[in-house]
Amino acid sequence: MKAITNKIFLTILVAFAAVACVFDSCVASKAVAAKSGAQLWGENCQRCHNTPSPSTFSPDQWKTIGMHMQTRALITDVERDKIVSFLQQRN
Ligand code: HEC
Repeated sequence: MKAITNKIFLTILVAFAAVACVFDSCVASKAVAAKSGAQLWGENCQRCHNTPSPSTFSPDQWKTIGMHMQTRALITDVERDKIVSFLQQRN
């Protein structure tokens, strides 16, 4: 009987942990979703050098630079895509 109670308790605990994880990541991605490409560009792309002007490179070049700088800035794919499309649109 005691073992069963323990199992139920554990199951509930794991379920709670899972819900907490999902909820947490939702909050994080909502924070990113709320930010525009321009905002992310300003926040992430002037840490190591001046913010590059959108007109400096062609849309194709921005795509490559985005992939290159993603590894430097340690940003997510979503953040990179937003920054790159901002830079491409303003090109
Ligand atoms: C951690 C530091 C760091 C961050 C953050 C960073 N960069 Fe860079 N960036 C570099 C370095 C270093 C170079 C020089 C080229 C190289 O060695 O990769 C560079 C070069 C560049 C260049 C010049 C490329 C060329 O061919 O002339 C552009 C444009 C650029 N970064 C854009 C960005 C954008 C856009 C972001 C934001 C997503 C960004 N960088 C974030 C370090 C960084």
